[in-house]
Amino acid sequence: MSALQKMMGWVDDRFPLTATYKAHLSEYYAPRNFNFWYFFGSLALLVLVLQIVTGIFLTMNYKPDSELAFASVEYIMRDVEWGWLIRYMHSTGASMFFVVVYLHMFRGLMYGSYRKPRELIWIFGVLIYLALMAEAFLGYLLPWGQMSFWGAQVIVNLFAAVPFIGEDLSIWIRGDYVISDATLNRFFAFHVIALPLVLIALVAVHLVALHEVGSNNPDGIEIKKHKDPVTHIPLDGIPFHPYYTVKDIVGVIVFLMVFSAILFFAPEMGGYFLEANNFVPADPLKTPQHIAPLWYFTPFYAILRAVPPMFGSQFPGVVAMGLSIVVMFFLPWLDRSKVKSIRYRGPIYKIMLALFIVSFIGLGYLGLLPSTPVATIFAQVLSVIYFLFFLLMPWYTSIDKTKPEPERVTG
Ligand code: HEM
Repeated sequence: MSALQKMMGWVDDRFPLTATYKAHLSEYYAPRNFNFWYFFGSLALLVLVLQIVTGIFLTMNYKPDSELAFASVEYIMRDVEWGWLIRYMHSTGASMFFVVVYLHMFRGLMYGSYRKPRELIWIFGVLIYLALMAEAFLGYLLPWGQMSFWGAQVIVNLFAAVPFIGEDLSIWIRGDYVISDATLNRFFAFHVIALPLVLIALVAVHLVALHEVGSNNPDGIEIKKHKDPVTHIPLDGIPFHPYYTVKDIVGVIVFLMVFSAILFFAPEMGGYFLEANNFVPADPLKTPQHIAPLWYFTPFYAILRAVPPMFGSQFPGVVAMGLSIVVMFFLPWLDRSKVKSIRYRGPIYKIMLALFIVSFIGLGYLGLLPSTPVATIFAQVLSVIYFLFFLLMPWYTSIDKTKPEPERVTG
């Protein structure tokens, strides 16, 4: 027995190192037919790590003080060695996080990955998505630019629309009557420690739930149904390590190429990743002409603006916006189809999914524009389509003409 084996034996007697490695990597059997869409889970993990590491380095020079915050970011950009790179990695990383997570969620919709027995993986996923939105929103206040200030002002004011307690609620969130130093301090605390902890914990339970039931795949059939009678290994399963660790490296390399191209050649991404107005220090006395959130929030912002105020209160819009996310939790129970994957679904689901994507992108586009009567009508139509995708799902998935699923995975 080599010295290394002896040492591993010593550790294994005290800590399940080899057992964990086997259970989650070398003897975790994943379906052999993963495709392009299965890159995005590991890429989301990569971006999470990137955000945490770059965030730690930013915190070393950032000052969470309304008098100093803006200048400290400029100092990071100009004077701190490699500070510009760290900051652009973090700001580009934030947008890329959403790109990756949206594609990851879309994969779930295509292959029915949220269906039994993966309901909890999905629910943890939606909670991750909520935490991620909160994390991005809080982080955006920190540079203390005009958009940071006014964006936070608009969003925190939405809480003021809640009947009876709204006014007090918004003061409680801000810690002041307006967005101020107190708000910046608490947003900083939540952004750098509270929410990252929540995110890491949620990602951990997301993966534990995944490994408990096993991954879905592009055919949407359960590989555990056909196991080798002797070894009990799924016949269509392959060890995650080395097969998918190596495959995922391909995804990582391509992702890093795209990420670097944005980072080095277009870090502001034409105003979509960093808004021009945020290079202007926050001025509480000067409201910008047009306040729009960053692209990843705009579909929900468009839903908010699509709903007309009632008795002068924005509350109905706030409720619609909240419901547009809450409805995602119910997806596993709304889908009544006999099959999971889009490969074997009928035309109705395909049309509904296509309409849903069109409505989501359309709303995202409208949310970027200043509100006009015509844009509002479009946003209303698209919001209705967005909700109908979910609300009519029990009906259209049960009448849709599905194709028979294969017994074993294809491709
Ligand atoms: C920080 C964000 C996230 C990370 C790091 C993450 C990580 C992962 C990883 C590593 C996998 C396994 C590999 C793969 O199937 O691609 C996975 C699977 C999955 N994730 Fe996520 N995820 C995140 C967010 C989400 C969100 C927001 C949702 C949905 C709302 C979601 C839903 C799912 C589902 C349903 C599966 C199972 C897919 C299948 O087996 O077909 N995840 N996730």
